[in-house]
Amino acid sequence: MIKFALMGAGRIGKMHAAIINSHPGSSLKYVFDTNTGFSEQVAKANNSKVAKSPEEAITSSEVDAVLIASATPTHTRFITMAAKAGKAIFCEKPIDLDIGKVNQCMEEIKGINVPLQIGFNRRFDKSHAKAQQARVNKEIGELEMLIITSRDPEPPGIEYLKAAGGFFRDTTIHDFDLSRFILGDDPIIQISAFGDALFDENAKKTKDLDTAMFIMRSKSGVLIHVNNSRRAVYGYDQRVEVFGSKGMIISDNQIPNSIKIFDKYKTNAQDPIHFFFIERYEQAYKDQFNAFMESIKNKTKPKVTFEDGRNALIIANAAYQSLESRKTIDINFN
Ligand SMILES: NC(=O)c1ccc[n+]([C@@H]2O[C@H](COP(=O)([O-])OP(=O)(O)OC[C@H]3O[C@@H](n4cnc5c(N)ncnc54)[C@H](O)[C@@H]3O)[C@@H](O)[C@H]2O)c1
Repeated sequence: MIKFALMGAGRIGKMHAAIINSHPGSSLKYVFDTNTGFSEQVAKANNSKVAKSPEEAITSSEVDAVLIASATPTHTRFITMAAKAGKAIFCEKPIDLDIGKVNQCMEEIKGINVPLQIGFNRRFDKSHAKAQQARVNKEIGELEMLIITSRDPEPPGIEYLKAAGGFFRDTTIHDFDLSRFILGDDPIIQISAFGDALFDENAKKTKDLDTAMFIMRSKSGVLIHVNNSRRAVYGYDQRVEVFGSKGMIISDNQIPNSIKIFDKYKTNAQDPIHFFFIERYEQAYKDQFNAFMESIKNKTKPKVTFEDGRNALIIANAAYQSLESRKTIDINFN
């Protein structure tokens, strides 16, 4: 049985707690959150203990693995603490918003051999993964274009925007990672980014964005387009199109049922797509945890590494550089 400490019992932390306890090979031992109300609630719901400090949870001899789902600025400190204590680590994306902190963390944990997986859950979505496999197996011939549409149902509140650190590093980072995943060993080398706050007053107030488009190019010449919005009135719009010399694969939106309505006013009308990420990627969140458990058990390299987290942040940084300079930016992963 792998015993876990959970850092952060907010929106995604609550979900991870339930996933840990529903896996037959793991259990939740400790929960730590600076909001003690949250940690007490999650500990009670999952038959675990509230830790009084991060150290108590992470360095406990009863703990084998640490799942970091706390606010982003805490991630590198907890990764370092857990690595030095020899624990397996699952850390939510992004590793941090500041590449300097990410590089420092990389130095501090260098040579420590513990499994460390980053929470890019979309790689584990069965449909997106099929699209990736189609690229690997050349089912659509030579890959020429990759198009990702990723739109949230509604904008977050102003407090979230103040803390999240900006659209590209917090949200688009998933699409940068998914692009890297589908491209495999063909690195993204250039990016042009456009963005604006078109409708969300909170985004305007915080100098953030609510709408964005990106064009990227890979080393082999594949063109990649990503478009994002923080408001799609019809739900969480998640589509991936992989286009090549022999055809196209689409990983389309998913709806909770397969009902189609035909009446006087509409034909072939369907219920709305999933509302947001917890519902849409339910299977992916479980499978990413299963993969993490497998890498602990089999002592294999996790499927999404620290380097993947760092590379996605480097693309996000280049995207901001492009937005600000109004130029296409060459991406340097060093
Ligand atoms: N992979 C995904 O799909 C996905 C989705 C949502 C969030 N996330 C990531 O997960 C992380 C948490 O996001 P969220 O939406 O759950 O946010 P949230 O604000 O709901 O939860 C964050 C929690 O961290 C706690 N916290 C803050 N400082 C802490 C500290 N020093 N020690 C312990 N706990 C602390 C807060 O009290 C809060 O309960 C973020 O890094 C976010 O980017 C990933």
